Amino acid sequence: ALSPTGCPVSPEAAEFDPFDAPYQLDPAEALRWFREQEPVFYSPKLDYWVVSRYEDVKAVFRDNVTFSPSIALEKLTPAPPEATKILEGYGFAMRRTMVNEDEPDHMERRRLLMDAFLPENLEKHEAWVRELVRDYMDRFIDKGRADLVGEMFREIPMTVALRFLGVPNEDAKELRKFSVAHTLNTWGRPSPEQQLQIAEDVGQFWKTAQTILDRMCADPSGEGWMYDSIRMHNRHPDIVPESYLRSMMMAILVAAHETTAFATTNAFRTLLSNRESWNDICENPALIPSAIEECLRVAGSVVAWRRIATEDTLVGGKKIPKGGKLLIVQASANRDPRHFENPDEFDIYRHNSAEHFTFGYGAHQCMGKNIARMEMRIILDEFVRRLPHIDLVEDQSFEYLPNTSFRGPTSLWVEWEPKQNPERRHH
Ligand code: HEM
Repeated sequence: ALSPTGCPVSPEAAEFDPFDAPYQLDPAEALRWFREQEPVFYSPKLDYWVVSRYEDVKAVFRDNVTFSPSIALEKLTPAPPEATKILEGYGFAMRRTMVNEDEPDHMERRRLLMDAFLPENLEKHEAWVRELVRDYMDRFIDKGRADLVGEMFREIPMTVALRFLGVPNEDAKELRKFSVAHTLNTWGRPSPEQQLQIAEDVGQFWKTAQTILDRMCADPSGEGWMYDSIRMHNRHPDIVPESYLRSMMMAILVAAHETTAFATTNAFRTLLSNRESWNDICENPALIPSAIEECLRVAGSVVAWRRIATEDTLVGGKKIPKGGKLLIVQASANRDPRHFENPDEFDIYRHNSAEHFTFGYGAHQCMGKNIARMEMRIILDEFVRRLPHIDLVEDQSFEYLPNTSFRGPTSLWVEWEPKQNPERRHH
């Protein structure tokens, strides 16, 4: 077989399929051979060019003109006409929203809508996020056993996102139901039947989001980022048009929810599997922020992102034709020995952990990264103080939603001896 540029495809590249077990279980490991032998390769099964080394991934992220993000949320498995019909029935009209927009529109909007995401403007949220975290822990702290994903990690990022947006509580319940359909819809390989169910869920998600947005627009005096955006729309309808608000209402929840839920789950699994590191942060919680960066490096929740070449170009010396689609595998770049010394070692004292690409890089780098970091920091901080003696339940099996990009197990069981809870010992 030949690639679109007429080069022979190696047997390894011909075999590569991100839906096979090796990539699904450990994408960085699945790309180890390529990182060393064929760092940029054409995958005929995917019809994408796969980029695996740190410097190449960085170069692609950095140039968002040659490598447009327009396909970032394109359905990897196209929808059958019946699914499209279902979506039309719901009035589904998702447009490009920030993450997949080209310049100059992208930067103009990003600047107008950035304020609420800045660290100095996030401080005011810390107290209620901590209260929320403590409240969730109270529900299971005396039980001695919990699935942290189901009981907490899947819930908190959605609650935080909704409150950050300013969505009223009674509406929040409705929205929670649908947001997960998106991962499979965008990055999965759903069967034709699954496509129909997904279309239903996505359609309902869209419709619910629009109803809530209509209510918020009717009285845009409230507090929260969605209200900020509505007011920005009223002042600059040319830069923030109504169709943009409509799409953003849904897109931002997708951006905020599973990414953060999975990142938190992966971080707990990694830290509890490296007991010395866990013990170190229990002893000294000031280490938590650097531990989080190392967890995001070795076990990030966004493992691969997409770009499309807008002209004939080169990546890592390899010819990429105009229109070539790129799968840039952050999980692989994060384990590149050319950038991270002993990359497979988990080391919370590493000096450059924060140089990982889990939040992307450059003009589109994750706007919500400091919200995600805050949530993870507060959750870890409460656990190391209130449940330092938790341990992973042995021999549990981990399942992943089959997809190329969002990665984290669907459950994480931990156990502990409630009699040992520090709060009981002190009282
Ligand atoms: C963009 C990852 C949490 C909002 C992105 C991108 C990645 C990413 C990889 C694309 C970056 C690029 O193209 O260079 C993550 C991860 C998260 C997380 C791993 C959690 C650990 C959040 C949260 C929010 C959010 C909590 C909002 C509350 C956004 C937005 C963009 C974005 C608005 C588009 C930025 C732009 O294109 O200018 N994120 N994200 N993310 N994320 Fe996140």
